[in-house]
Amino acid sequence: MSFPIPTLRREHGRLVLEDSPLDDIAERFGTPTYVYSAEAMTASYRAYHEALSAIDATVCFAVKANSNLAVLSLFARLGAGFDIVSGGELSRVLAAGGSADRVVFSGVGKRRDEIAYALEAGIRCFNIESTTELETISELASGLGRSAPIAFRVNPDVDPRTHPYISTGLRGNKFGVPISDAFELYRRAHAMPALVVSGVACHIGSQLLDPAPVAEAADRVLALVDRLAGAGIVLDHVDLGGGLGIRYRNERPPAIGDYLAPLIARMGGRRESLFLEPGRSLVGNAGLLLTRVELLKQGEEKNFAVVDAAINDLARPALYDAYHDIEPVHADAAESRRYDVVGPVCESGDFLGRDRDLAVRSGDLLAVLSAGAYGMTMSSNYNSRPRAAEVLVRGRQCILARQRESVDDLMRGEHPLPAD
Ligand code: LLP
Repeated sequence: MSFPIPTLRREHGRLVLEDSPLDDIAERFGTPTYVYSAEAMTASYRAYHEALSAIDATVCFAVKANSNLAVLSLFARLGAGFDIVSGGELSRVLAAGGSADRVVFSGVGKRRDEIAYALEAGIRCFNIESTTELETISELASGLGRSAPIAFRVNPDVDPRTHPYISTGLRGNKFGVPISDAFELYRRAHAMPALVVSGVACHIGSQLLDPAPVAEAADRVLALVDRLAGAGIVLDHVDLGGGLGIRYRNERPPAIGDYLAPLIARMGGRRESLFLEPGRSLVGNAGLLLTRVELLKQGEEKNFAVVDAAINDLARPALYDAYHDIEPVHADAAESRRYDVVGPVCESGDFLGRDRDLAVRSGDLLAVLSAGAYGMTMSSNYNSRPRAAEVLVRGRQCILARQRESVDDLMRGEHPLPAD
């Protein structure tokens, strides 16, 4: 079966991303290193753009999936907007050359200083998730003499049929306002002079493999939009969130165009423009984590390949029992054995893959695939491990997008006790 990363291939047994051999990248930048393909990111963005060409639409890349400045600037140049969930993410978007007027701000706990920052920057829309937030934004906008464009993120109570940790649109989830309360909330917001009621938002979950629940959520949201219009509250956009899944192993996610078709059919001929907030489907299969085998170890029941990447670099296997394909960078005739691929961190949950048949020796390089989304952004410094480097590949060119952290970086801002 082909690799889930479309720009990855084997050439004379050696893994090559675009035109850059992974062993050269490891040589030059060390390991562990996240490696991203600009071409794969561009292709997935273009697939959205082309599928949406018949309607008025904005693709807002979900920054939480991959917030590296090189990645954000690539999307900014392609014309993307951005979905942010913090002031930190807004700073990144602006530093990468993104424009504030294409930014939507989601999140259930926006702080006052973050709201003020976004108001000053002039973002496109606040996706409000509670009554308290409605009041806070109104108060801060009046205080600053600004008008705040807002949408309510409604919770449509639709089951997205994905992992429970990444389902967000069910009644029991913390996200959004209940769709049944939305009409009254819009009436309140409409009467607040510092607010401009602009749209409606919803996001039901992530790694969705079936377009039907999103279409069902869209129907509920559009019924609300029509009811509001009947009451004289006219919205200019409908934001249907992100969520499209990718292939990690043998999942069969719909193609971007097929996933969007039911949404485009619903939006065609309407006055509102469509916003989307994809993260994983733009970057997940444009990235991998390059790691080196430190040693092979035989346990009583299992063989372990101990590598130099760990749970702090890629948390998804431990957190969601997520599967990432693991490929030797050099395919050779070494004997294949079954291994748990584990890191050096002091946790039994520190694994990147379990029960993998691999032909490896100590010192070999491995590529952990499909790691472009929620990889580096969820990494930590647990066990005082400096975070990985990030490299963006463009053909033969390898751009150091983030330098590997040093231990000094880790201790910055810390102080031992002063002398007695
Ligand atoms: N919009 C909102 C409001 C979101 O909460 C999310 C993701 C997205 C857009 C982007 O969703 P995507 O297109 O990437 O599915 N850490 C987890 C995924 C958490 C997703 C959180 N929200 C993972 O590694 O699978």
